[in-house]
Amino acid sequence: MAEVLIYETPGHAGRTVADHIAHSVDAKPQLVLGVATGSTPLPVYGALRDHVAVGIDFSQASAFALDEYVGLSPDDPRSSRAAVHREVTVPLGLSPERVHVPDGDPQHLETAGQRFEALIEAAHGVDIQLLGIGGTGHIAFNEPGSSFGSLTRVKTLTDRTRHDNARFFDALDEVPHQCITQGLGTILRARHLILMAFGPAKAQAVKAAVEGPVTSSVPASAIQLHPHVTVVLDEQAASALAYTDYYREAQSLKPVWQGL
Ligand code: PGA
Repeated sequence: MAEVLIYETPGHAGRTVADHIAHSVDAKPQLVLGVATGSTPLPVYGALRDHVAVGIDFSQASAFALDEYVGLSPDDPRSSRAAVHREVTVPLGLSPERVHVPDGDPQHLETAGQRFEALIEAAHGVDIQLLGIGGTGHIAFNEPGSSFGSLTRVKTLTDRTRHDNARFFDALDEVPHQCITQGLGTILRARHLILMAFGPAKAQAVKAAVEGPVTSSVPASAIQLHPHVTVVLDEQAASALAYTDYYREAQSLKPVWQGL
C-alpha cells in the first residue's frame, strides 16, 4: 500500500514536499527532479523559493517535465515549456540547459519520444518525480487505457481533460487535442514518486488510484506497482479514502528522520 500523508491545506502539504526536495538537493546537488505542471505542484514551487532565498542551491540540478501539448509554440505561455521556465527554472535558479521538456513541435514528433527517453537515461534517471492526478485518473497525460509499460509518446487527450484544462486557455477549442507525454513505464522508473492532489474534485480519482484495483482504466493506479511512493493530499482530496484512520496513525508515528 502506498504511503498516504494528509495535511490540512495545500500550503502545508506543499511545504512538506518542498522541505524534502530541499533536503535532497542539499545532499545531492545534481538531483534529477521530475516536474509536473498544472495547478497542483504550485504550492511546492512556491515553498521552494523560500529555501532558495536562504541558500539552497539548484544550479547543479536537472529537471524533466512530464508532458507537453502538441502544436503550441515553445514560448506560448500555456505550454509546459513556458510553465516550467516560469515556475521552476527561473525562480529556483536551475541551468536552462539542464531543464528538459518533451518536444511538442509537430515537425519533430516522430523522434521526440525516443530523444526524451535518451535524455532521462543520460541523466541516470529521475530521483524524485512530482505527479498530479487528473479527474480521469491520468498521471502526466496517460489517459485511461494507457499501457503500464508505455514510454514517452504522442497521446490524444480525452474530452474530460481538455475541459479540465480549458481554464488555462481562452476557449475550449484552443486546447490542443494531442500531447506528448512520459509513459507510465517512464514514470515507474523514477526512484521516488510523490503524487499530490488537492480539493474535492480529485477525491474519487485519488481513491481509485490508491485503494482501487491496479488497472489501466485508472492510469494513476500504476503507482501501486512502485516500491517508493508518497501520496500527499489535503483533507478534501483524502475525503473518499476508506483507510484514513490507518494513514493518519502511520503519519503520526513516522519518524522525523525518515523524510518522505
Ligand atoms: P492540475 O492537473 O494539477 O491542474 O489539477 C493535474 C493533472 O491533470 O494531472
